[in-house]
Amino acid sequence: MFVRVLGSAAGGGSPQWNCGCPVCAAVRSGAGPPRTQSSIAVSADRRQWFLVNASPDVRTQIEAFPGLHPRGDRTTPLEAVLLTDAELDHTLGLLLLREARALRLYATPAVHKVLCDGSGLVRTLERYCSVEWRPVVPGAGVSLGGGLSCRAFDVPTTKRDRFGSGENHGRVVGYRLTGERGGGTLVYLPGVQALTPALRAEIEGCDCLLVDGTCWRDDELIRLGLAGKTSREMGHLPIDGADGSLAQLASMGVRRTIFVHLNNTNPILLEDTPERRVVEDNGMEVAMDGLEVEV
Ligand code: MLT
Ligand code: MN
Ligand code: ZN
Repeated sequence: MFVRVLGSAAGGGSPQWNCGCPVCAAVRSGAGPPRTQSSIAVSADRRQWFLVNASPDVRTQIEAFPGLHPRGDRTTPLEAVLLTDAELDHTLGLLLLREARALRLYATPAVHKVLCDGSGLVRTLERYCSVEWRPVVPGAGVSLGGGLSCRAFDVPTTKRDRFGSGENHGRVVGYRLTGERGGGTLVYLPGVQALTPALRAEIEGCDCLLVDGTCWRDDELIRLGLAGKTSREMGHLPIDGADGSLAQLASMGVRRTIFVHLNNTNPILLEDTPERRVVEDNGMEVAMDGLEVEV
């Protein structure tokens, strides 16, 4: 299976247009690469590709990746879009795909409901192209086509429910992806608030884990005076600390652990920071846009 990180930043990207924090300022001055918003493309055969999440930067991300370029006419290698949640950084790109003849969309009923009745993105999209919704059921394996299988799993969260769907089950999911003709297992988990025993069981022993690396510290945004909430309160387990993701993941037997969905304030975005060194010294990685992994 092949994975391409299309966008490695959290909502807003890096740098974020209205942010002058030390990391955004450093990225603007060229001290680190800019990053687009959170999304990956996955394929078992390098011919048919599946997006997991559609970011507001999807157009640039597709142009930057020849694997997703159309062949001849308007036949595109993009087979379907899988969603982990209904956040705007993961779904606004759906509207930018409206030129498609039809779009196959995998989402839980909870996420689909928000996209129809909350943000309304799918209702709007349906005015441009046909949307084939495939309901995602956590725990059930699905063959996506192109030799790729996936199984979603529920990710419990107390994250603010912006669109008030009232539904908690299936509001956020992660995906376990496998090639049907062998190869390893990829777990994609761009948003996780706590590594519960059930989530640890999903991750344990996978070959590659792309995991929520939003904030380094739990109080990162509070210290910078940018927000009143901790990282956990926003639905994202911080990396640092005795109960942070790095310490918990270090013992889980995952071959490659790569942090994605990086917030613009996170010091691991820059190569020469002590925080980045801690990640690397623990044998883990920080995703960049365009990173490709064979699993
Ligand atoms: C989040 O995951 O909390 C988001 O990145 C928020 C956003 O899209 O603004
Ligand atoms: Mn996000
Ligand atoms: Zn910033």
